[in-house]
Amino acid sequence: MKRLSLRSRLFLLLIVPLILIAGIASYARFQEAERLSETLYDNTLLAVALTISRDVAISEGDILTEQLLEELTTALGDPVYYRITGPGGGFVTGYSDPPDAPAGSDIQSGKPFFFDSTYLGREVRSVILREFLNQPRLQGWMTVEVWQTVSQRAALSRDLLYQSIALLGTIILSAAVILWFGIKLGLKPLLDLQNAISLRTPDDLRPIRRWIPIELRPLVQTTNSLFERLAKAFEIRSAFISDAAHQLRNPIASIVTQAEAAVSSPDEITLRKRVDSIARSARATGRLTNQLLSLERVRGRSLRALFEQADIVALISARIRSFAEVQLLNDIAVGFAVEGAPKPVLCDPVMIEEMMANLLDNALRYGLREGGELAVMLSFSEEEVAIVVEDDGPGIKEELRERVFDRFFRADLDFGDGCGLGLAIVADIAEAHGGSARCVLSPKGARFEIRLPLEPH
Ligand SMILES: Nc1ncnc2c1ncn2[C@@H]1O[C@H](COP(=O)(O)OP(=O)(O)OP(=O)(O)O)[C@@H](O)[C@H]1O
Ligand SMILES: [Mg+2]
Repeated sequence: MKRLSLRSRLFLLLIVPLILIAGIASYARFQEAERLSETLYDNTLLAVALTISRDVAISEGDILTEQLLEELTTALGDPVYYRITGPGGGFVTGYSDPPDAPAGSDIQSGKPFFFDSTYLGREVRSVILREFLNQPRLQGWMTVEVWQTVSQRAALSRDLLYQSIALLGTIILSAAVILWFGIKLGLKPLLDLQNAISLRTPDDLRPIRRWIPIELRPLVQTTNSLFERLAKAFEIRSAFISDAAHQLRNPIASIVTQAEAAVSSPDEITLRKRVDSIARSARATGRLTNQLLSLERVRGRSLRALFEQADIVALISARIRSFAEVQLLNDIAVGFAVEGAPKPVLCDPVMIEEMMANLLDNALRYGLREGGELAVMLSFSEEEVAIVVEDDGPGIKEELRERVFDRFFRADLDFGDGCGLGLAIVADIAEAHGGSARCVLSPKGARFEIRLPLEPH
């Protein structure tokens, strides 16, 4: 059933119960007809028995009118046999060896007793009628036995059965045809939808807008939302490719020029200097590649929404501890504090790691160049957690505090080999969590505040 087509599945689900119901109904109808025919035959048998008994009574035991029996037999189809036993068990008239009533049968006077039996090897239905005669010539109990072969009745039953089967077959066959084509017609909107989707080109990710039956709407809504996410992912990917191509072209061209210059160096010292600068440019290009990939990864993950309830205090404190251990040698003091009651945060731990890596890297590069102090603080409120990273370096001028989050923006172009993507990554991560990233005024140096809602919507 699992692997059946929708059409076959619906067809089976409808036709099987229909066959069952039609079968039961036909069987019940057949039984009812059988009962009715039995009653009719019994009534006729009784009528014959009564007529005979009256006839005997009137003729006071004389022979039965042959003509009457003849008429009855013709009317009934099956031959009728009879036997009359007079008072004292004496044989009056009729056929010998009537079928015996089943042992222990209680035959009451005036009340016909019906039973099935065999007579001369043929199936018969019998009735026994006992009546008290009070005639001058005939006095006492008289027994009238009438029996009749049941071949006509069996034929009637067979006819009824065949009729039932024919009726059942017709109903089921026509229902099957109606259902099979009806279901196909009913499923047409689904096929139309499938056609419409299959005719699309791979870059056509517009939402499906055609009319669809109410049952299919959730499916189409889900598909549309998938299309939307795919379109966004495509957009991000193509932006990444064009960014990457654009940004990598210049440094690579400069490496090529420097390498050409190095080849034609007049002496070894110049050669060393030029090779050294090639190495620096290559490092910067490597950093740029890494940051571009990181930006792309963050965007890709934010589309997949890999959020989980995480212990953000444990996550960040572990990161800070390893940072502090390494930077201890560089005369850098690191402080870590938590304010408010810590709560689990619905976040993507990989993104949080990436965000912290960029903030710590910046603090190290620009704020803590000659030693100093880094303070990291987590402060929890009812709805959000604020992650503050503050160094005591030169800080960022007020007019640049927003722009530092722009892609490829660097405040001091001559300094270091950054590529201006670190804070853009931080901002993207905060946004993916439904939060915000800001650079705020600080009396010490640069202060970054990332606010993340505990449960992003
Ligand atoms: N803690 C800080 N103190 C002073 N200036 C900072 C600090 N953090 C960032 N900046 C300034 O903001 C600019 C943007 O930072 P961002 O991290 O986005 O880029 P980057 O560090 O230059 O490059 P990368 O992508 O390699 O990190 C930096 O170039 C720097 O001038
Ligand atoms: Mg940076």
